[in-house]
Amino acid sequence: MRQKIIIDTDPGQDDAVAILLALASPDDLDVLGITSVAGNVPISSTTRNCLMLVELARRTEIPVFRGSAGPLARDLVTAEHVHGPTGIDGIDRPAPTTQVAEASAVDFIIETLMTIDEVVVCTLGPLTNIAHALTEEPRIAARIKQLILMGGGHFEGGNTTPVAEFNIYVDPQAAAQVFASGIPLVMMPLDVTHRAIATPSRIDAFRHLGTPPGDAVAGMLDFYHRHDIERYGMPGGPLHDPTVIAYLLDPGLFTGRYVNVEIETQSALTMGTTVVDWWGVTKRPANCLVMRGLDADGFYHLLVERIGRLR
Ligand code: BDR
Ligand code: CA
Repeated sequence: MRQKIIIDTDPGQDDAVAILLALASPDDLDVLGITSVAGNVPISSTTRNCLMLVELARRTEIPVFRGSAGPLARDLVTAEHVHGPTGIDGIDRPAPTTQVAEASAVDFIIETLMTIDEVVVCTLGPLTNIAHALTEEPRIAARIKQLILMGGGHFEGGNTTPVAEFNIYVDPQAAAQVFASGIPLVMMPLDVTHRAIATPSRIDAFRHLGTPPGDAVAGMLDFYHRHDIERYGMPGGPLHDPTVIAYLLDPGLFTGRYVNVEIETQSALTMGTTVVDWWGVTKRPANCLVMRGLDADGFYHLLVERIGRLR
């Protein structure tokens, strides 16, 4: 059965690979729309990047909706130092000519969820759009089949502060609203994504596809992994966001635990921490399937095989 999905995203090279993975899988995934959000770079750039990516995948029938320009209650924090000024540096493409849809991202999310059953929401950036949609139409919480998010960290710590991961840190109030909403949640934290390292040989596998999307992925990852090698001494950049789409295509690649997760929104020191009760010490009810394990070779095999289908 084709899974109906909405992709909410702030591209970002790793968002870009996630989007290409979804657009390369039309037999499995029916992408109803892509909604942009401010995060890695400001909203004008994340929206433009979404349009560029649907053109690269030759899937311009999929509408792109412009989303929130900043978090609910805080100033926007961006990550050009990781992703470059465009958000997807390393790609060599002309400016997109495809137009953004007229409706706002929040209106599209509400309208889609209220009229179509069994939609899965895939979030690859801060949760701002989803929080706005929940505030405007709380009934969407009961209508979402599942929300799969890249965000947070537990055993691995944070990548933006010692304890907070970027997507949750940028808009902790939005994350807290989503985690308290009762929506069935699946979380891909840094514990998983730091196992999904784009090593030079894995990047070469994309380049060897010999296609424009393969070259674009290799170019973006060549740029993106510099930061992680220099700053963290990793053997490459972690491909965070494609784990969300890979989970829909092959959940057997992942292992995790259904536990309670709360979001820290008060302390300046630990703002945006995902407080994961991995050992069940609080007895608070479980609200999220938190992933920890990944078959990294299987994950990269899936990515290369699927992106190889794009021409
Ligand atoms: C997350 O933050 C962004 O920089 C990436 O695109 C990913 O969604 C990782 O912390
Ligand atoms: Ca992202």
